[in-house]
Amino acid sequence: MNIVEIITKKKSKLELTREELEFAFNGYLNGNVKDYQMSALLMAICLNGMTDSETFNLVDIFIKSGDVLDLSSIPGVKVDKHSTGGIGDKITLIIGPIVSSCGVIVPKMSGRGLGFTGGTIDKLESIKGFKVQLTEEEFIRQVKEIGFAVTGQTSNLCPLDKVIYALRDVTGTTDSIPLIAASIMSKKIAGGADKIFIDIKCGNGAMMKTMEDALKLKDIMVRIGDFYNRKTICEISDMNVPLGSNIGNSLEVIEAMDVLKGKTGSLRDLSIKISTEMVSVAKEISMEDAKKEVLNVLDKGIAYNKFLEFVKYQKGDINSLEVSKNIQEIKSDKNGKVITINALNIGKLSCSLGAGRVSKEDSIDYSVGIVLNKLVDDEVKVGDTLFTLYKKDNNNIDININDYYDIK
Ligand code: URA
Repeated sequence: MNIVEIITKKKSKLELTREELEFAFNGYLNGNVKDYQMSALLMAICLNGMTDSETFNLVDIFIKSGDVLDLSSIPGVKVDKHSTGGIGDKITLIIGPIVSSCGVIVPKMSGRGLGFTGGTIDKLESIKGFKVQLTEEEFIRQVKEIGFAVTGQTSNLCPLDKVIYALRDVTGTTDSIPLIAASIMSKKIAGGADKIFIDIKCGNGAMMKTMEDALKLKDIMVRIGDFYNRKTICEISDMNVPLGSNIGNSLEVIEAMDVLKGKTGSLRDLSIKISTEMVSVAKEISMEDAKKEVLNVLDKGIAYNKFLEFVKYQKGDINSLEVSKNIQEIKSDKNGKVITINALNIGKLSCSLGAGRVSKEDSIDYSVGIVLNKLVDDEVKVGDTLFTLYKKDNNNIDININDYYDIK
């Protein structure tokens, strides 16, 4: 078998066999297939898609590239949650503490940022000392003791996804339905949870730009979950507008804490919705009863305390969060009402400030980002601050407001 022939076959829209997929992907993991060859294959997959049979085979190859976690020693129903990635999406940091406070076990396997979207592991690393890489024993012990843990992929859990994910990030090959489905579902299945909740983001700031694509992704992920006997629930949520007010790593942790302490708005609403569905599915109770439990732990500060317990357990110092002091306020030049805020452009701006990666080796500046001072439907007057940039240095950045805010 020959990698160039495999790339050419995919380029010609022909179906790859299991053996060909194994040759290419396992070959990449063991170094026989080079970055540039895998990049070409990923691009051909991105452009020409994959058949169901190819996608199911790829999931299986990803899973078998490493270990499968056995969580059977942990009593209770285990529900894992994953988002396909969005701008300002810090939901995991909110729902993990809420759902686990309701008595549902949340063993959460998370990733780093992909493209212009942020990743939970990067956000948690903005907390000094936070241990993002737990061993299997540490992960299981923590989940047993406090009901919630977040770990990056251990080096032996879907190692193939780990290397492909990093390459996709820097080769413009993130927004492919079969590649996203294989990446997420392989990790979730290898992660060992009984039930899987996927938050599919849809809109200009997400990988799925249209409802049609979001529904296709939902369909294939649910079928993969069925195949492995793991109930998979997908929620499709809007990503045309950033989620909440803060974008950037430390800033997002701060906003997640604010919601756990009672801040209202769309971020809290979506967190309640997702938590309710997870609790309802895990405990097999009505949505109404699940919502009562969710509101109880949120409003009584139980979930906030769980967040603090979780950070402490993973050795993080919650008082260490740093936000840059180099601030630039972007003021409105119009009177009117905010009609929309362009999530994609805000995500790209945040990345260019240093909150995300442009190449595989880039390091992240946890202290930079953006705070949206005006949200959709807010009234605005000339001179009001629309959003604030938290920058690496004090150099002025030229901003065309119309690229970010639509005010009428
Ligand atoms: N999250 C993942 O883990 N993989 C993807 O491909 C997209 C989002």
